[in-house]
Amino acid sequence: MQFFAGVFLLILTLSVTIKARKCPEECSCDDTKLTVACVGKNLTEIPLGVDEITVKLDLKNNNFQMLPRGAFLHTPYLTQLSLQRCSIIKVKEGAFRGLGRVVYLNLAYNKIDILYQESLDGLSSLKELHLDHNHIEEIQPGAFIQLGFLSMLALTHNHLVYIPNMAFQGLQNIKWLRLSYNSLNNLAPEAFTGLFTLSRLSLDHNELQFFPTLTMMRLPEVKRLELSFNPMTYLGEESVLMGKLTHLYLDHMSLQDLSDQAFSQARLLSHVDLGHNQLRYLEPLSGPTKLDVLNLTGNPIYCNCYMRPLKDWTTIGGVRLLGACAGPPHLSDEPLQGVTSLDLRCRSNDEEEEEQKNNENTTATAKPRQTVKCPLNCECDTEAHHATCESRGYNKVPRGFSPRTQLLDLRGNHFHFIPSSSFPGTGQVVSLHLEFCKIHEIEGGAFQGMRNLLYLYLSDNDLMSLEAKTFAGVPQLTYLHLEGNRLTQFPGAALSLVPNLFVLHLERNAISKLEPAGLLSSAAPKLMELYLSNNTISNIAKGALSFALIKTFHLDSNQLTEVPADALTDVPHLEELNLSQNSVRWVGPRTFQGISQSLQRLYMDQMGIEKMSTEALLGLGPGLKVLTVRGNQLKELPDLTALTGLEMIDMRDNPLVCDCALLPLRRWMESVNLEVSATCGHPLGLRGQQVGDTNLFSTCPDNTTALAEAAAVGPRPVKIKSTRGKTRPEKLKLDKLPRGQHRRKAAKQKKAKYKKMKKANRGN
Ligand SMILES: *[C@@H]1O[C@H](CO)[C@@H](O)[C@H](O)[C@H]1NC(C)=O
Ligand SMILES: *[C@@H]1O[C@H](CO)[C@@H](O)[C@H](O)[C@H]1NC(C)=O
Ligand SMILES: *[C@@H]1O[C@H](CO)[C@@H](O)[C@H](O)[C@H]1NC(C)=O
Ligand SMILES: *[C@@H]1O[C@H](CO)[C@@H](O)[C@H](O)[C@H]1NC(C)=O
Ligand SMILES: *[C@@H]1O[C@H](CO)[C@@H](O)[C@H](O)[C@H]1NC(C)=O
Ligand SMILES: *[C@@H]1O[C@H](CO)[C@@H](O)[C@H](O)[C@H]1NC(C)=O
Repeated sequence: MQFFAGVFLLILTLSVTIKARKCPEECSCDDTKLTVACVGKNLTEIPLGVDEITVKLDLKNNNFQMLPRGAFLHTPYLTQLSLQRCSIIKVKEGAFRGLGRVVYLNLAYNKIDILYQESLDGLSSLKELHLDHNHIEEIQPGAFIQLGFLSMLALTHNHLVYIPNMAFQGLQNIKWLRLSYNSLNNLAPEAFTGLFTLSRLSLDHNELQFFPTLTMMRLPEVKRLELSFNPMTYLGEESVLMGKLTHLYLDHMSLQDLSDQAFSQARLLSHVDLGHNQLRYLEPLSGPTKLDVLNLTGNPIYCNCYMRPLKDWTTIGGVRLLGACAGPPHLSDEPLQGVTSLDLRCRSNDEEEEEQKNNENTTATAKPRQTVKCPLNCECDTEAHHATCESRGYNKVPRGFSPRTQLLDLRGNHFHFIPSSSFPGTGQVVSLHLEFCKIHEIEGGAFQGMRNLLYLYLSDNDLMSLEAKTFAGVPQLTYLHLEGNRLTQFPGAALSLVPNLFVLHLERNAISKLEPAGLLSSAAPKLMELYLSNNTISNIAKGALSFALIKTFHLDSNQLTEVPADALTDVPHLEELNLSQNSVRWVGPRTFQGISQSLQRLYMDQMGIEKMSTEALLGLGPGLKVLTVRGNQLKELPDLTALTGLEMIDMRDNPLVCDCALLPLRRWMESVNLEVSATCGHPLGLRGQQVGDTNLFSTCPDNTTALAEAAAVGPRPVKIKSTRGKTRPEKLKLDKLPRGQHRRKAAKQKKAKYKKMKKANRGN
């Protein structure tokens, strides 16, 4: 190698001494460094006559418009090529062919709009590629396929809206991918698949409204993720499934709430930036054990007793807590790090009111309050952009809110009827509360103009139907609460105006059937969660559930007499199904076949099930994590053999017949290393005893004959070996509640938290 390099240098020196190197007249050439610069010459074509031996070519600030095929074939030794600010619109396929040594290519500040499949072919050694500040709106599949050595790709300041599946295929050594300052609002689930070496991903200054959980799951090595300046309002439970992530930037978003379980699957997080959001309060974060810094700078944190758990948690864990209190007045601007747990108090209402009065007095004299637009009797918090007129006896929607209001709370008034255009000048409102307002009718276009509305709470009113134009003018609506009304039909027609709907709550209404005529598929193409608990549904027609993407479906407390197996074939991505508290006596074979590929949690408690076919669960496999059949009339169980992935199973309160036929179940329970709850109902002598109790089966013959006999009488023998080999990891039992419990816990906490926040709001 060295020998050849020596020979090469020798030849080089000879050629240089023999004749001066070529240098185009518009350029300046350095013969010793082998560089050529033709900068700012308004060139329209790549200059001819650049010496073949050149290693560094600087062509910035020219006017090439187009790079033709084979444009650099004459300079095969180039290692660095600068083409920024050259008005390049199009890079023809094969433009860089022959540049197998280039490690640095700068194409920034041009006008490229499409990256064609072969635009970058030939750059097989490239390490750094600058494509920032262009007009790229499309990346064709395979555009980067030949860049196996690229470690940094800059695509910032372009016009990307969507990243399709496998867009970056071929980047086998990529470390840092920069997609900041685009208009990304959607990332396909496999957008980043194959980037096994990526450790840093910059997605700040885009339009992402949700944390792209699925997409990010495919990035096993990412340690640093920048998502600042995206319009996310909420981060749900287990949003961040990134096991190696250490640095997460979520500042300058619109977060109003954050589940304490949001980071439960990102245990290595050490630095979390939540600065400049709208968080008033935060719970201790479950999951990260190595957190160093939690940055809450610029949030309207209300420092009362509800912040105490977080404070204690950060103190014990040595977490640096950055930010300051926004209230109550005596703690205003106090750094969170300096506030002690004892300072974080909630006093009785009287004291608090007293204090508020005092304060009003002092502020009134010391510095007059900023005058803010705020209707009579309402409270408007300018800093947090919240306005509340809760339970103020209004019978018409009040007007005159600040146009910057983001949260508008009008619950507990008596509006009865909401006429069209009831909310003028509220284009910034993200969240609108109208619970408990005795509303029985909403005129079409009532919310017209609320173009940023994401959350609409219409729970606990008297609505019997919704007219088709109800949600005209709120195209962003994502979370809709209609629970606790008197709707008799699924409001399919009204939903067709809110194509971004993600979560729909319809619990506690009077819906009795679901029919295809409800236009469901066209109504809510993005719907992920549908809650229909506690209606009177007795029939779900096939074709009624054509929600392509739905993952969570609650049908509990209805009047179903059979599991709607046919209709369920229309929701092939369903992960959670709650059927509890219906009256279904018999569950036939292969009932869940249609959703067997996706189903993870199945709840069938208190349904009066007397018998399940041995093959009732056929089709379900290791994907099923939770199964509950508590409080039924089951004497025996279906075949559970294939459910090797269960994390929780609840069979309590069934009159199981505890004879040797149940031995396989007992064995299976041992083998899965789970807490399995099952009690005997028969024979009488054993009633109430745990199936897991060792004595029950001590007299059973412990051999294969017995198992075969058992198979003949009761549930099919469980292949013990198949599960024993795969005992659940201990941690599931020790430090992780099964998912179902998480959810319930989270729901409970959420309720508690909501109450707290309400209180805290009042305290303000
Ligand atoms: C650059 O070249 C284009 C076309 O060749 C010409 O129209 C333009 O005036 C030139 N600009 C300058 C600054 O010379
Ligand atoms: C915390 O956030 C503020 C505001 O976003 C920022 O200026 C500061 O540098 C952050 N501090 C740390 C340690 O990250
Ligand atoms: C508030 O101000 C009024 C008049 O300005 C005064 O009479 C009253 O004593 C003050 N109250 C307190 C608690 O300072
Ligand atoms: C169903 O709704 C009724 C009436 O609103 C309520 O009393 C009952 O508790 C609800 N049941 C469940 C399981 O939510
Ligand atoms: C399923 O429905 C039952 C009955 O309404 C309810 O008690 C239970 O909490 C629900 N489970 C989940 C996980 O939603
Ligand atoms: C299996 O059990 C049966 C009866 O319960 C018994 O007759 C037989 O000897 C046992 N076989 C073995 C190999 O233990």
